[in-house]
Amino acid sequence: MMEFTGKICVVTGGANGIGRCIAQNFLERDAFAAVIDTDEVRGRELAEAYPGKVLFFAGDVAEQLVLEGFASQVRERFGKVDFLVNNACLSKKGICSRCSYEDFLYVQKVGVAAPYYLSLLFSDLFADGASIVNISSTRAQMSQRDTESYTAAKGGISSLTHALSVSLAGRVRVNAVNPGWIDTGLYHSGHRLDCYEPADQLQHPAGRVGNPQDIAQAVLFLCSDQASFITGQSMIVDGGMTTQMIYHNDEGWSLNVK
Ligand SMILES: NC(=O)c1ccc[n+]([C@@H]2O[C@H](COP(=O)([O-])OP(=O)(O)OC[C@H]3O[C@@H](n4cnc5c(N)ncnc54)[C@H](O)[C@@H]3O)[C@@H](O)[C@H]2O)c1
Repeated sequence: MMEFTGKICVVTGGANGIGRCIAQNFLERDAFAAVIDTDEVRGRELAEAYPGKVLFFAGDVAEQLVLEGFASQVRERFGKVDFLVNNACLSKKGICSRCSYEDFLYVQKVGVAAPYYLSLLFSDLFADGASIVNISSTRAQMSQRDTESYTAAKGGISSLTHALSVSLAGRVRVNAVNPGWIDTGLYHSGHRLDCYEPADQLQHPAGRVGNPQDIAQAVLFLCSDQASFITGQSMIVDGGMTTQMIYHNDEGWSLNVK
């Protein structure tokens, strides 16, 4: 049984999607959550759903001063951090869309610089047994076209994971979870779940598209005492999608060339 009573967990991008599911999982196990997100409405709604248990901070993790303001509120309110989940990220596409220098840099700030800087800001606050979990992606290792801003950020956070695990050795375990295709609809307002064709499901050896609970369970495990011998690792949680080799005209697969 994973035990999180009284633990302090920090989740970036915790107002919606996978981050919200992670925060709720901790809260439902009697932990406290500090959440930073640009979505003020959904963030406040989370705080109201768990009275006295959530510190919600509205702000953009790309901004240095915002991160410093958030960290000082976490320090003041909780005085320690048990778990830091660096989850917030976004895409501004890539070279085919002529992603600008500023947009490319913005994604790196959200996806790589913020995880680094929060790790630094909390470095003297981490409690015994503390853990950082970085949310990367299977896209750290493989790409669709026109995804450079996002894929570079995911490569960055994956490498940041093993670097931090060595620098913080003996004090904080640092791991990553690399999600595959995750339908986050249930954790957005309006609960919009996508519809899938059978092929969408069957291209996953697990037989389905993922959901935020699949990722939250991996994060909770990596934060738990049961994972005390695991650090510097990336755990792929993708229903096997990236494991399957696909050849044109094999196994019922064909590529429609336009
Ligand atoms: N959903 C997937 O299929 C999938 C797959 C692989 C990896 N991931 C990764 O999982 C993480 C969560 O993804 P998701 O699908 O839940 O995303 P999402 O878009 O559903 O939710 C992201 C949350 O982060 C917040 N956010 C975005 N930019 C922010 C910023 N600059 N500052 C503060 N908050 C910000 C948003 O407001 C939102 O609440 C991301 O790192 C993403 O790259 C998702």
